[in-house]
Amino acid sequence: MAVKEGLRAWKRIFWWLILLTVGFSGLLLYGVPTVRHLEVFIPMGTCPLARMSLLRDNFTDLHLWARPEVLTCTSWGAPIIWDGTFDPDVAQQEAKQQNLTIGLTVFAVGRYLEKYLARFLESAEQYFMVGQRVVYYVFTERPDAVPRPPLGPGRQLRVERVLRERRWQDVSMARMRTLHAALAGRLGREAHFVFCMDVDQHFSGAFGPETLADSVAQMHAWHYHWPRRLLPYERDARSAAALAPDEGDFYYHAALFGGKVEALRRLTAHCTRGQQQDRLRGLEARWHDESHLNKYFWLHKPAKVLSPEFCWSPEIGPRAEIRHPRLLWAPKEYAVVRG
Ligand SMILES: *[C@@H]1O[C@H](CO)[C@@H](O)[C@H](O)[C@H]1NC(C)=O
Ligand SMILES: *[C@@H]1O[C@H](CO)[C@@H](O)[C@H](O)[C@H]1NC(C)=O
Repeated sequence: MAVKEGLRAWKRIFWWLILLTVGFSGLLLYGVPTVRHLEVFIPMGTCPLARMSLLRDNFTDLHLWARPEVLTCTSWGAPIIWDGTFDPDVAQQEAKQQNLTIGLTVFAVGRYLEKYLARFLESAEQYFMVGQRVVYYVFTERPDAVPRPPLGPGRQLRVERVLRERRWQDVSMARMRTLHAALAGRLGREAHFVFCMDVDQHFSGAFGPETLADSVAQMHAWHYHWPRRLLPYERDARSAAALAPDEGDFYYHAALFGGKVEALRRLTAHCTRGQQQDRLRGLEARWHDESHLNKYFWLHKPAKVLSPEFCWSPEIGPRAEIRHPRLLWAPKEYAVVRG
């Protein structure tokens, strides 16, 4: 009897192992769309009611219980903002009352300028912090080629010249250093909050002051259901960006991060230092500045996390939990823009 039971249990474990192996290898080969669709069944966890009721936001009323199917707060008590968990009108009023200036930085280097910048700026005029004072900072090596879309009242566009880096990896590396310098200059003086974004995306829905906080991180659309051990952090312990297998909260996307000027100064200083240290050792982190950003947010937790709705990849396909995407990435055409 006992032997039979034992055999049955063993068989069960065996099948689970096979299922898990197949599942995880499928996940790793994330080009397979069917497997991508299955990952929504990996639970994200839920925000405990006790924590939910304690959370307050500086800009909006939070309704974190409005989305019970997704995780709406972090273990350190930061809200994770999903569609339906905030009141956009309250946020709008509050930001107006504080008379804020919000900066939006974007790098348009090489072929990224012609290919993406016009649509990025035009869609930002339509959706980004509408009704607030906004100053765009475009970093480029060709200021003359920057498009000048008509801007709403209280909105300005500034163009800053940067040097052309030879390899796109170096462009990504130079970004943190350039931002750090800009935050110490005019940008830091005129803006209260700043968002730093990639140019190869466009706004597709209202992106308002509900996204503001001391420091803001974006959950990566491709990885928000993945178990921690599989997240694509830098794992080489020699790198300044390294995270051990039991470290890391979420995988954050470097296509969007933001916060108050002082907080971003600390963030960009940390990432620049890490990148320099790696370079001296002849290393380059797996996902460049994104790896260093993830290390920073592991050490210094973001005050607010944006759900993947705020920076969504249409290549993943529709998902019930992604109700209202605010930014959409362009399909990656590396051969065209990096060549
Ligand atoms: C709001 O800020 C702008 C720019 O910083 C300034 O010119 C203006 O006087 C401020 N308005 C109020 C009511 O404080
Ligand atoms: C809200 O504002 C206070 C005072 O400026 C600040 O200390 C706190 O960190 C802010 N909270 C968030 C989530 O940014």
